[in-house]
Amino acid sequence: MADQYAHSGDDKRPTEIPAIRWEEPPEGPVLVLLDQTRLPAEEVELVCTDASALVEAIRSLAVRGAPLLGIAGAYGVALAAVRGFDVDEAAASLAGARPTAVNLAVGVRRAQSAHEAALAKGGDVRQAAAAALAAARQLHREDAEASGRMAEHGLALLDELLPGGGHRVLTHCNTGSLVSGGEGTAFAVALAAHRTGRLRRLWVDETRPLLQGARLTAYEAARSGMAYTLLTDNAAGSLFAAGEVDAVLIGADRITADGSVANKVGSYPLAVLARYHHVPFIVVAPVTTVDLDTADGASVEVEQRPGHEVTEVTAPQVPVVGVEAGGGIPVAPLGTQAYNPAFDVTPAELVTAIVTEEGVVSPVTAEALAEVCARSRRV
Ligand code: MRU
Repeated sequence: MADQYAHSGDDKRPTEIPAIRWEEPPEGPVLVLLDQTRLPAEEVELVCTDASALVEAIRSLAVRGAPLLGIAGAYGVALAAVRGFDVDEAAASLAGARPTAVNLAVGVRRAQSAHEAALAKGGDVRQAAAAALAAARQLHREDAEASGRMAEHGLALLDELLPGGGHRVLTHCNTGSLVSGGEGTAFAVALAAHRTGRLRRLWVDETRPLLQGARLTAYEAARSGMAYTLLTDNAAGSLFAAGEVDAVLIGADRITADGSVANKVGSYPLAVLARYHHVPFIVVAPVTTVDLDTADGASVEVEQRPGHEVTEVTAPQVPVVGVEAGGGIPVAPLGTQAYNPAFDVTPAELVTAIVTEEGVVSPVTAEALAEVCARSRRV
């Protein structure tokens, strides 16, 4: 396809502000988030002084994406602890803020366990709070490291599946540094391909209805200097039919024991298209996204979002994501019911490979997935 569809950006940092950071001003510790509902129009910080503000930020998608939700959840527990709130209550409300990305509950539990362990060892509340914060910081660091290793494994896999480079990669939703302590999951692989001259183009699904692709992935792609093109989600079929997609790279919110992949709604149709067109469908996710306690895809709780996200559009780029009607411009008759699941589930049989920081699972089987998780728990 002609390159008149191309956009090449300047080579800049992904954002001026990190997606998440812990700060300790004189007024007391806070968790500072880059408010993702305001991108790409502006880089605005959101300062959370307690866990309930963070719960609201999670529900409104100011902070989002599986790995970052885990990190945020862990810091949220630490915030409750250092500010003297009830840690168990905060942990329960944080873990329940969104149901699908398993990383959120995992991150919350990790900081909560560190807090409990410090108390059990006879530590006082200050020591227990410090232990929760140390656990959150550790998770943050580990996620950054995992991101680098996923990029290495993912790049090697692309070389194996598509020798010769010149990859045209399709991605969905947003999986870069906005969702990670490092450079992300699927996007980190695309970035590594770009930096080594292997990426010809990143096709970016806009990702209806909240436009994580258009608002966030296009933003990250532009700033990285890679060649990218935005498309509506329903243009993907004709792109495959035209032979313009060499691989699909996506992230995951939860990977179940049987290898089913829950990810942003619209991922499953891409997997079906990829299979029909004999294109590899590659999922990139840290081991923290693998949930061996959930047996299969049918057991995943898929978040249902409010209908106004579909029946209204908001201007300029910023979706209003409250629980009530959003105050946007209606695009459907008043009273129209909307079906608005935030995620869908792709069965393992449609997934070519799952790339983790511990290695690549391919073919995707329950045994191979369990083995990669065991590898991570051994270190
Ligand atoms: O609803 P969101 O924006 O939190 O959904 C995010 C996704 O579906 C991502 O693809 C997933 O979390 C993987 S992020 C590395």
